[in-house]
Amino acid sequence: MRRAIILAVFLALGAVVLLAPWPSPAPPTTGREVVIHARQYAYTPGVVRVSQGERITMVLEAEDVTHGLYVDGYGVDLVAVPGRPARASFVADREGKFRLRCSKVCGSLHPFMLGELIVEPNGPWWRAVGVTILTAAGTVTYLIAGRTGARQEVRS
Ligand code: CUA
Repeated sequence: MRRAIILAVFLALGAVVLLAPWPSPAPPTTGREVVIHARQYAYTPGVVRVSQGERITMVLEAEDVTHGLYVDGYGVDLVAVPGRPARASFVADREGKFRLRCSKVCGSLHPFMLGELIVEPNGPWWRAVGVTILTAAGTVTYLIAGRTGARQEVRS
């Protein structure tokens, strides 16, 4: 009886996790172009936000002297000469914050020319995590309830 209630509760929770409306739409998988302008000693935009799983084409445009753009954690390295943009595509498959740094000596403050790539987790992925955690918790609770139930039967 107790097991049936536990099973019903976890099934209901699972349905909520699966069916509840997600605030943001699923990220497009077709790809997105992100243009980053570089000038001594900053990137514009300085922070790039993408969704996990998105295919990104990064375009680096140097506006004054030659600049580089290295994406920590993804190993993407671009070098752009003024008037000649550089581009590279990659799939943002790891979530987190990744440092962007200039990889070409461009002046006295070159070491401080930094930016940030933020890869945000996407909705469907968190749903999958939620269902996995619920399934594990439900299984454990179900088994424990079964064991204590059996013990009580022995005692009575
Ligand atoms: Cu820009 Cu080094």
